[in-house]
Amino acid sequence: MNMKKILLLLAIIVSSMTVHAKTLVVYYSYTNNVHTIVSELVKQINADVLRIEPAQKGLDYEANNYAIGSAQIAAIRENPGHETSYPAIDPTDVNLAQYDCIIIGAPLWWSNMAAPLQTYLFKNGGTMAGKKIGLIVSSYSSGINGVESDAQRLIPDGDFFDRSLWIRSSQTSNSASLLRQWLKDIDYETVAGMDDTVAANEPDSYTVFSVNGSLLAQNASTLHNLEGGLYIINGKKTYIK
Ligand SMILES: Cc1cc2nc3c(=O)[nH]c(=O)nc-3n(C[C@H](O)[C@H](O)[C@H](O)COP(=O)(O)O)c2cc1C
Repeated sequence: MNMKKILLLLAIIVSSMTVHAKTLVVYYSYTNNVHTIVSELVKQINADVLRIEPAQKGLDYEANNYAIGSAQIAAIRENPGHETSYPAIDPTDVNLAQYDCIIIGAPLWWSNMAAPLQTYLFKNGGTMAGKKIGLIVSSYSSGINGVESDAQRLIPDGDFFDRSLWIRSSQTSNSASLLRQWLKDIDYETVAGMDDTVAANEPDSYTVFSVNGSLLAQNASTLHNLEGGLYIINGKKTYIK
């Protein structure tokens, strides 16, 4: 195979991993803490958003010491493998195949993931196999291990980011900076293949080729002078600008 063909092949492989990478944020929110967090998140990343809604409207999950929410969680705990254990939700029509990364925004209920969100993942978690999965959990004070276990049970073949983000209810108004730090810690832009610009993460030394294989620059001081387009930039990593 000649150099041109190799570079073209590389361009196709990298562009399928990188340029078309898309993120979906799926969440449920009863008292709008997770809703506020997700609204902040989509200011920081490009993502589509899907909000899950229970089919039964007007339920007061908090009444009588959280009785309804508690009963829903108990039903799932008792028989997690059966569809009837999960509360019905409104139909959704998002094609998960078009997403490479799914970020889940989950309220914590009785140490578990809020029941309506579990319903969505019970139905769709299998379709998320191999995708990058991020988890953001909101709770009043309880730790989030149980929610992490739920996510892993419901998305058994998900490729989870190294750590999930726990935002306590009292920190909701501070979620912008917590999200920014988390995205940085998990190296979201690179790991999720969202890096369609080299601006934030430029390699130290590199060689820039056009897609038809001609050498454009070597160890250039900056990549920003290049017009927008598809380039093979070969340094420590391969980038698309
Ligand atoms: C049914 C139910 C059960 C809950 N159980 C817990 C709990 O065990 N521990 C806790 O710290 N918070 C618990 N919470 C509080 C929520 O996790 C917290 O308020 C969260 O921020 C709600 O997110 P949301 O506003 O997006 O619905 C519970 C809330 C509900 C409605």
